[in-house]
Amino acid sequence: MHGTVFEEIVNQRRSNRAFDESVEVPDEVIRKGLELAILSPNSSNMQLWEFHWISDKELLKAMHPLCLKQSAARTAKHMVAFVTRQDLWKKHARWNYNNVMQTIGDREPSKREKRGLDYYGKLMPVVYRQDWFGFSTLFRRILCFVMGLKDPFARISGSRDQKVIVHKSCALAAQTFMLSMTAMGYDTCPMEGFDPVRVKKLLKLPKGAEINMIVAVGKGTEAGIHGERKRLPFDEVVFRY
Ligand SMILES: Cc1cc2nc3c(=O)[nH]c(=O)nc-3n(C[C@H](O)[C@H](O)[C@H](O)COP(=O)(O)O)c2cc1C
Repeated sequence: MHGTVFEEIVNQRRSNRAFDESVEVPDEVIRKGLELAILSPNSSNMQLWEFHWISDKELLKAMHPLCLKQSAARTAKHMVAFVTRQDLWKKHARWNYNNVMQTIGDREPSKREKRGLDYYGKLMPVVYRQDWFGFSTLFRRILCFVMGLKDPFARISGSRDQKVIVHKSCALAAQTFMLSMTAMGYDTCPMEGFDPVRVKKLLKLPKGAEINMIVAVGKGTEAGIHGERKRLPFDEVVFRY
């Protein structure tokens, strides 16, 4: 592992807050990064994410104040808003279900395929269903409590839990994207310093969408790196059992 290309990329990636305005980032670079981001691990392969790629100059300009006038946003050549779409769970569960069905074709499903159909046809609705009165959440809470009494049970009940699930997966995609930018010789700055209400409005995102983070991309400068990289000591954050 020591000295590998991967280690180099991880060491090289820094959050850069001032991109070189004279260097453009080719579209193919962003496209490749997004193609790789799509391959990121994600909960149940539900892919409840979207990647809103902003390269239009006027739109980039409009994003700057909404990103609280951060210099990374002012100098970025592209931005990608990593967005969760928890509201699309039915459509994506159906897509996964149909994929299993397609594999089965006309023959009898195997045990694993039957489990796959149940997973997307029955379990995903239990995990993601919401209703105005909170009945689904109440049902999940009771289910988690009762099932968890005797055996280990994945305790996914309230809408907060589902939010965490979709944001986890989305952040992993953002990380894949950022590392791939580094691998291709460009730099990034992930941002949570932005006004989500105004950005959602500018990008015309639907009500069910939530912005996980916005990643600014460009060719980094030395001035854009704010000091040495500092991390807590290994033994303070790593616990071995
Ligand atoms: C979710 C998230 C949000 C962040 N938001 C901002 C931001 O709004 N502005 C900024 O300058 N840096 C932001 N950062 C970058 C962090 O400050 C940075 O990753 C951290 O200081 C470690 O430095 P490094 O990325 O150079 O290793 C964010 C990072 C993450 C993961």
